[in-house]
Amino acid sequence: MRVGVIGGGLMGSGIAEVCARSGVDVTVVEADDERAERSRAAIERSLARAVRSGKLDEAGQAAALEHLAVTSTFEDIAGSDAAIEAVVEDEQLKRDVFKRLDDLLPDAKFLASNTSSVPIMKLGAGTKHPGRVLGMHFFNPVPVLPLVELVTSIMTEPETVEAVREFAEGTLGKQCIDSQDRAGFVVNALLIPYLLSAIRMYESGFASKEDIDHGMVLGCAHPMGPLRLSDLIGLDTLLAVSESLYDEFRDPASVAPALLNRMVEAGLLGRKSGRGFYDYS
Ligand code: CAA
Ligand code: NAD
Repeated sequence: MRVGVIGGGLMGSGIAEVCARSGVDVTVVEADDERAERSRAAIERSLARAVRSGKLDEAGQAAALEHLAVTSTFEDIAGSDAAIEAVVEDEQLKRDVFKRLDDLLPDAKFLASNTSSVPIMKLGAGTKHPGRVLGMHFFNPVPVLPLVELVTSIMTEPETVEAVREFAEGTLGKQCIDSQDRAGFVVNALLIPYLLSAIRMYESGFASKEDIDHGMVLGCAHPMGPLRLSDLIGLDTLLAVSESLYDEFRDPASVAPALLNRMVEAGLLGRKSGRGFYDYS
C-alpha cells in the first residue's frame, strides 16, 4: 500500500510515522524544502524516542525509515493508492489540495482529510468523485492516541468508509468511531467549547492558569489541563476550529475569546512556536 500525506506538521508527521511503522509506503508532501526537512527531522526524533522507551527496536526503526519519503514536490505522490490531507486548518487551502489530489490520483481508493472541523462535503464538493472523499480524523499525538474518527459526507460511498476502517484498524492498529458530517464531528464538538471556556476563565482572572490546569488533572484525572492541551493542539488550530464550529452552529460557546485572537496575532501558537500559555523554550 502506498499513501501520500499532504502537510507534514504536527499531525502529518505523526500520521506518516504511524503509516511507516505499519509497513505502509508513505510520501509526505510539504510546502517547501525547509519544511520538508523539518518534517523528516520530527519523524526521525519521534522514532528515536520510541526506541529509547522500548516501544520499537532498531530494526523496526530502520524499516520504518525505509518506508518513508519526504518531498516538497506534490507530483511525487502520483500513483499512490490513497491520500491523507493534513495541511493547516484553512478551508480554501484544503479545497485546493483536494482538487489537485482528485486530478493527480484518479485511481486512488480514498482521499481523506484529517481536518479538525471543516465539513467534509465542502472538500468533496470540488472533486469529480466525492464518493471517495471522507474524514479520517487522528488525534494528537498520533503515535500515542488510538482514536480515528471516520466522517462520512452525504456523498461518501459505503465502500470507501469500509476500506478506510480496514486501513485504520487492520493496518494502522487504530480504533474508529463514526461521525456524521457536522463541524467538529464528535470529539471536537465537545472538546473545543471546554477549552475555550478555560481560556475565558483565565482571561477573566477567575483563576491562575496553573490552578485551572491542576484542577482538571487532579480533580478529573485528565492527562493534561485545558490550557496545556490548547498549547499542544496549537492556538492557531484551536482558533480555526472554533471559527468552523461557530459558522455551523452559531453557539456562543464556540466564539473565540479575545485573548486567543491576540495570542495568535502575536505568534504565540503554543508548543510548536515555543510559547503559548506556557513557555517551552
Ligand atoms: N510523539 C510520540 N510519542 C509521544 C509524544 C509524541 N509527541 N508525546 C508523548 N509520547 C509518548 C512518550 O514517549 C511516552 O511513551 P512511554 O510511556 O512508552 O514512555 C508516553 O507518550 C507518555 O509521554 P510522557 O511520559 O512524556 O508524558 P505524559 O505522560 O505527560 O503524556 C501525552 C503526554 C501523551 C501528550 C498525554 O499528556 C496526553 O495524552 N495528553 C492529552 C492529549 C489529548 O487530549 N490529545 C487530543 C488533542 S485534540 C485533537 O487531537 C483533535 C483536534 O482536532 C484538535
Ligand atoms: P501544523 O501547523 O503543525 O502543520 C500544518 C502543515 O501544513 C505545516 O507544516 C505547513 O507547512 C503545511 N502546509 C501548508 N500548506 C501546505 C501545502 N500547500 N502543501 C503541503 N503542506 C502545506 O498543523 P497540524 O496541527 O499538523 O494540523 C494539520 C491538520 O490536522 C489541520 O487540519 C488540523 O485542524 C488537524 N488536526 C490537528 C490536531 C492538533 O491537535 N494539532 C489534531 C487533529 C487534527
